[in-house]
Amino acid sequence: MRGVGPPAEKETEMEQDFGIGIEQIDKQHRELLDRMDLLRDAMRRGKSRETIHSTLRFLENYVIEHFTTEERYMQRYSYPGLLTHRAEHEKFLKDLAAYREKFTALEAQGELTTFLGLDIVRKLNDWFANHIIEVDKKMGAYLAEKM
Ligand SMILES: [Fe+2]
Ligand SMILES: [Fe+2]
Repeated sequence: MRGVGPPAEKETEMEQDFGIGIEQIDKQHRELLDRMDLLRDAMRRGKSRETIHSTLRFLENYVIEHFTTEERYMQRYSYPGLLTHRAEHEKFLKDLAAYREKFTALEAQGELTTFLGLDIVRKLNDWFANHIIEVDKKMGAYLAEKM
């Protein structure tokens, strides 16, 4: 979904190559990145709280499903980097829970601004994009040889 908001950052990101070469995982990455875009868009346009919350809930559940998929692949093909990769996933889940708490707290205090909301999504998105490029790609290269 292309918003009307400042597109520069989004465009650059879309030009980056997030493909790791494993179809199921690439599909999940696209879905997650798209949903984060939707979330940003919903915040920018001042969409309802319910839209924002349901997208956040979707993200949380889908991220868990996605991490489980990757960890299964790594296990099945005895990936030597499994433990460090899994530790990164766990760290992200903790961060995600913390952001959600922060989000909810700000909201309850009536202090959640579009700026703060977008900042939270940006941090999640940055982590995710870096993780794909730095960590998932290595895993993908290994799996491609073994599969
Ligand atoms: Fe991933
Ligand atoms: Fe990963």
